[in-house]
Amino acid sequence: MEGNILIVDDEEVVIKSCERILSPAGYNVKGATSGEEAINILQNGGFDLVITDLKMPGIDGMELIRWLRKNSPHAGIIVITGYPSQESIRDALQLGIIDYLPKPFSPELLLDITEKAMNTVKAKKIEEKPVEVKDVEAKIGEIMSAIGQNKGKPGALIPVLQQVQEILGYLPPTVQRIIAKELNLPVSEVHAVVSFYSFFTMKPKGKHNIRVCLGTACYVKRANEILGKLKEILGIEEGGITEDRKYSLETVRCLGACGLAPVVMVNHDTHGAVDPVKVGDIIKQYN
Ligand code: FES
Repeated sequence: MEGNILIVDDEEVVIKSCERILSPAGYNVKGATSGEEAINILQNGGFDLVITDLKMPGIDGMELIRWLRKNSPHAGIIVITGYPSQESIRDALQLGIIDYLPKPFSPELLLDITEKAMNTVKAKKIEEKPVEVKDVEAKIGEIMSAIGQNKGKPGALIPVLQQVQEILGYLPPTVQRIIAKELNLPVSEVHAVVSFYSFFTMKPKGKHNIRVCLGTACYVKRANEILGKLKEILGIEEGGITEDRKYSLETVRCLGACGLAPVVMVNHDTHGAVDPVKVGDIIKQYN
């Protein structure tokens, strides 16, 4: 398994034996014999896991854990302790350590706890990826095949953007960079095309996209109140999407149905003469 690990222990022999066990398993291991040295090393970042002794002269393990929580919150922490008192373990767990190793420990236990901790750190990293990156990763096969079908053809950019938007629902910066690279175009050119055409969007849409018309005919018939009510019901702002990705909310200048003002469209359905007080009933129809 891969990963960068810092072992912090004032007994060099502990660092050496951890290195001997963890390096052959594929980990990149470094050591620090004090909390101060550990902080110096950690300041440059790059460690997935810190395995630290609790009792050390100077900056001890608890202090180091507090420093890590503040300055390197993504690093996982395992505590090594020769005197595992319930209080110290409880305090360390409250500070978010993943696990602890009572001294002396067997190579098997060290490997097992390290692997579990590394999996926890990696799963957390995946969870914390921006939504757009997760979206693109989930559909990368389809996206690459849409690009592949058009690559090399003159004017490939617009059909690629259309197909990718159909696959993903929107064109976030991550996918724009992929398209630019694959079509050998500057990212600025891809971005300019996406921004220019109104049928391209960089924002994700909900399962149900709600468009509130704020054109003059609708505005004079309280369209603004409809928008306010929808924001309140959905708990999102204009251009936003609900956390469950069920609803997104947009405003438009005219939906071409001024005779029905005020107008709200949900997906392809037009709702006319909408009463701001009852707009919630319309939304309830869409699950
Ligand atoms: S102004 Fe709202 S539909 Fe035209």
